[in-house]
Amino acid sequence: MISIFFLCALCVIQHCYAFSGGAPDLMCDDMLPLHIVPPQHNKHPYKISVNQTEIKAGEAVEIEIAGDKFKGLMMEVRRRKDATGKFLLDEEENDFKTINCHRGKKNTLTHQNNANKKNKKIVWKSPNVPGKYTIYATIAKDGFVFWTKIPAAEITVE
Ligand SMILES: *[C@@H]1O[C@H](CO)[C@@H](O)[C@H](O)[C@H]1NC(C)=O
Repeated sequence: MISIFFLCALCVIQHCYAFSGGAPDLMCDDMLPLHIVPPQHNKHPYKISVNQTEIKAGEAVEIEIAGDKFKGLMMEVRRRKDATGKFLLDEEENDFKTINCHRGKKNTLTHQNNANKKNKKIVWKSPNVPGKYTIYATIAKDGFVFWTKIPAAEITVE
C-alpha cells in the first residue's frame, strides 16, 4: 500500500517537473493540465479582476490575480473560442511567459517556474476587433489541487 502511494506521488512529481516550464500547445483548447488527479469543482480561492471593463480596440487592460498562493497558471482571453490579443510582460517578469495558441502570437500566458505566486498583475492588449471578451484561467495551487478554465472576467472592446 505504502509503495503504491509512493509510486503515485512520484508520477505526480514527475508531471510537475515535466510542466514546470509551462503549458504545452495541446493544452490551448481545453486548458486542462496533465495532472494525474482530476480538477477541483468546488469554489476556487482566487479573485481575478481587470482595472477597466471597457476599452477601445487596441488598448490594454491590467489583469490582477489575487487570493491564495498558486504555482501554475494558464490564462487566455477569448472572443468566441480562440485565444486572442497579446499578453505584454515586463522584462523583469520571471514567473510567467507567453505561448502561442490558435495561430496567434503571445496570446496565452503560463507559468515558467514552480515557485509560489501571489497577487500578480499582468497586462493584456486587445486586438483591433470590437466585441465581448472573456478571461479564462486554469490555476494550480500545487500538483494535486487545480481549477480549470475558470471564466474570470469580461472585457468589452469598443
Ligand atoms: C489599466 O491598465 C492599462 C494597462 O496597464 C492602462 O493602459 C490603463 O490606462 C489602465 N486604466 C486605468 C483606468 O487605470
